[in-house]
Amino acid sequence: MTGSLIPARVCHFDLGALCYGIVLAAWDRGLGSVINGQGIMRSDIVREVANIPEEQVIMTCVAMGYPDDSFAANAVRSDREANSDFVHYVGFAD
Ligand SMILES: Cc1cc2nc3c(=O)[nH]c(=O)nc-3n(C[C@H](O)[C@H](O)[C@H](O)COP(=O)(O)O)c2cc1C
Repeated sequence: MTGSLIPARVCHFDLGALCYGIVLAAWDRGLGSVINGQGIMRSDIVREVANIPEEQVIMTCVAMGYPDDSFAANAVRSDREANSDFVHYVGFAD
C-alpha cells in the first residue's frame, strides 16, 4: 500500500486529522505535544532513534512530554486570527 502515500492524495488530510486526534488524546492524559516538521528535516536522527527503515515515509513528527509550566517558553501564547475573519458557515444561523 505504499502508493497510498503519493503526494496530493487525500491521505494527507486523513493524517492531519489523525495527528490532531493523537494530540488531543495525549493532552487529555496530561501530555503536551508539538507537531513538527523539523523531525522530517532531520529524519536521519528520527529514523535512528525510532528505528524507522528508509523504505517507510515519515509524514510528520509529534514530540510529546509532560509540560514544565515553570519553563519560560511554555508561557508564550500565540495570537490567533478570529475564526469569524476566515471561517464562513453556509446554511447555519450565526
Ligand atoms: C504540520 C505542522 C508542522 C509544524 N512544524 C513545526 C516545527 O517544525 N517546529 C516548531 O517549532 N513548530 C512546528 N509546528 C507548530 C507547533 O506544532 C505548534 O503549533 C507551535 O509551537 C505553536 O503552538 P500553539 O499552536 O499552541 O500556539 C508545526 C505545526 C504543524 C501543524
